[in-house]
Amino acid sequence: MLHYIGIAGTNSAHSTNRQLIQFVQHHYADTVDVTLHELTDLPLFYKTADHSVPAAATALASAIAAADGVIIATPEYDHSVPAVLSSALAWLSYHIHPFAGKPVLIMGASYGALGTSRAQAQLRQILESPELDARIMPSGEFMVGHSLSAFDDDGNLTSQTLTHQLDALMTNFATFVDVNRQLTAKMTRSADWQETNH
Ligand SMILES: Cc1cc2nc3c(=O)[nH]c(=O)nc-3n(C[C@H](O)[C@H](O)[C@H](O)COP(=O)(O)O)c2cc1C
Repeated sequence: MLHYIGIAGTNSAHSTNRQLIQFVQHHYADTVDVTLHELTDLPLFYKTADHSVPAAATALASAIAAADGVIIATPEYDHSVPAVLSSALAWLSYHIHPFAGKPVLIMGASYGALGTSRAQAQLRQILESPELDARIMPSGEFMVGHSLSAFDDDGNLTSQTLTHQLDALMTNFATFVDVNRQLTAKMTRSADWQETNH
């Protein structure tokens, strides 16, 4: 069974993006194993004098490195990725590179109609930076608009249309993970890649 890390880009106690990851966790439990990781233990990013990384970041990095893929559900604040997610990604690209070559599926939930389309575009750009170098699922946008009313009391998405879209996306992401594994096996990376990119 494929194993994914699920990250909701939030440090809020209540989050529809965390609900979205939890829905994925339960709805596809027969085919994929999703572990939800919180960002609350990570300090705001700063460059450490000795290039060390906080324990919470190394723990998350190890989990990502061991996983088959990562699913990130991003909220949208002022048309942007939340600061807590941006900061976490900075830690996860500071002398450690757990996202390098790692398949990532981006999704998001927002109170407005556009379902984090702007934050998702921004997140895609961040993940494509050389220090992160993630393999982002092509055409992988999944947007839950009006997210406060998108889930029922059991945490299920109420929209059949959205659920069917997500079914297809999860199937396609598993294919993407498989194809990426074959591609990565055939690709070479310069030994001094980390030095040249810092
Ligand atoms: C300061 C602030 C800015 C926000 N900006 C946006 C925005 O640009 N677009 C949007 O759809 N919702 C915006 N929202 C509403 C929700 O916070 C946002 O939809 C978020 O994605 C909800 O995610 P969550 O339920 O996981 O916290 C904003 C809220 C706050 C407090």
